[in-house]
Amino acid sequence: MTTQQPPRTSLHSIAPLRNRPAFKALEEHCAKVRNLHLRQLFAEDPERGERFTLEAIGLYFDYSKNRITSETIRLLLELAEQSGLRQHIDAMFAGEKINVTEQRSVLHVALRAPKDEQIFDDGVDVVPEVHGVLDKMAKFAEQIRGGAWKGYAGHRIRNIINIGIGGSDLGPMMAYEALKYYSQRDITFRFVSNVDGTDFAEATRDLNAEETLFIVCSKTFTTLETMTNAHTAREWVVKALGDEKAVARHFVAASTNTATVEKFGIDAANMFGFWDWVGGRYSMDSAIGLSTMIAIGPEQFREMLAGFHTMDEHFRTAPFEGNLPVLMGLLAVLYNAFFDAQTVAVLPYEQYLNRFPAYLQQLTMESNGKHVTLQGTRVDYQTGPIYWGEPGTNGQHSFYQLIHQGTKLIPCDFIGFVQALNPLGNHHDLLLANVFAQAEALAFGRTPEEVGADGTPEWLAPHRTFEGNRPSNTILAERLTPKTLGTLIALYEHSVFTQGTIWQIDSFDQWGVELGKVLAERIIPELVRPELDNADQPPLKHDNSTNALIRHYRSLRR
Ligand code: F6P
Repeated sequence: MTTQQPPRTSLHSIAPLRNRPAFKALEEHCAKVRNLHLRQLFAEDPERGERFTLEAIGLYFDYSKNRITSETIRLLLELAEQSGLRQHIDAMFAGEKINVTEQRSVLHVALRAPKDEQIFDDGVDVVPEVHGVLDKMAKFAEQIRGGAWKGYAGHRIRNIINIGIGGSDLGPMMAYEALKYYSQRDITFRFVSNVDGTDFAEATRDLNAEETLFIVCSKTFTTLETMTNAHTAREWVVKALGDEKAVARHFVAASTNTATVEKFGIDAANMFGFWDWVGGRYSMDSAIGLSTMIAIGPEQFREMLAGFHTMDEHFRTAPFEGNLPVLMGLLAVLYNAFFDAQTVAVLPYEQYLNRFPAYLQQLTMESNGKHVTLQGTRVDYQTGPIYWGEPGTNGQHSFYQLIHQGTKLIPCDFIGFVQALNPLGNHHDLLLANVFAQAEALAFGRTPEEVGADGTPEWLAPHRTFEGNRPSNTILAERLTPKTLGTLIALYEHSVFTQGTIWQIDSFDQWGVELGKVLAERIIPELVRPELDNADQPPLKHDNSTNALIRHYRSLRR
């Protein structure tokens, strides 16, 4: 190992979290705040709902049902200042290599910058390149949407299958679901990610290869799952169309790795590039979003980018006390550090956002699931919480019981829209009534006295009592549009950034996914080799549990 000095960012000169005065002050402050009940806080301050609500760039963010006082917010804002958040935001937008362990800049904000902006990476303005790729994507998307692009046998493309995993799958898949209302309905979209052959088999079983286009999405173009699925797709197409030449008409790629894409047989002209300064989980608005653009069309895709950009500008310029992602990130830090909250539930009351929590899981947990600081030391505090969730109202009939009456504190993000995309009778009012009711019930609960007053027998009262004091944010927007979706995603991206900055970790690397990949590569050739007798199967040198599992698999597999 060499003893080179690690690369530095503005965060390196910031004191460790526990030594920052605001953190210490918060520790003391929270010891008192913990005992306050939201019932009391609201009773004492009739304006609380308005005072702790922020309306900006089309989002109404009510954070009044959090276990905070004005002093809590003041201290959290001080913590942000003392943590170098301002400098770190500037460093990201300036293209500094804030992804320290991979020595990369972090410029997903450039993916949605308007043409007349300049954003530099290593002295090169990347905005023109970004727009060059967007224009190329737009041309291709229109060819598919209009039927000008023909398959090898001369058929119009009616099915798009996105092959990718992680950021090369979750973003496109979530966005397709979220924006289905705006999509071209005579094209079928499917998403294959899992190396489990079932994923591919089910996605293609009723499709005609002559009308199917695969978009192979992979930043590296080396990911095991994606390459396995892409090769299977290639065989499927070649078998159906009877010619290797069909590959060029039925495959396109989104990647940073031109050489490997070409080796696969995809014409470089049909490759849509992006750059190493785009992290996988921050890439849905790059070429990785090609399926989204085909689904909703280039114009609406650009509206989505405009939504992202509006939030980027808000994050970059708004004072912290009026800055949505900063406040949201600070509240997440608060519960994580001082209320022992291990998780955050994201609860969109919008069926089209059914994959939004899954998307957020990679964004939040691959970014902030780290226990080592930028300085290389082990943290002595909690970092990234577990994000999870389901759309309402479904979740209410499954896991909400635990949020209301369990022993764990689970801060919730409720997300709702004022206008329904599919207005049917009074469905939408019922939906939104449930958002408001859930947040109210969590905050205020139901006291034993209230329970007793309705005639509940004494023995049953404890079961029917709701302690309340369970925190939530409520985010309302007018309507789910491409633009709103962009704004919402960027809200979470920058909240993740805010949290990672306070914790002084690298939110943009993902070393934790490596070891499992390496060990799987080692095990693959150790599984059954049918050409060998039992006695000749490769020797196993793992721990005794892993050896036994592999042997058991081998014996049943043969
Ligand atoms: O699982 C790790 C990871 O590198 C993610 O960060 C990424 O989104 C995913 O794999 C897919 O990587 P690629 O786009 O290179 O195939």
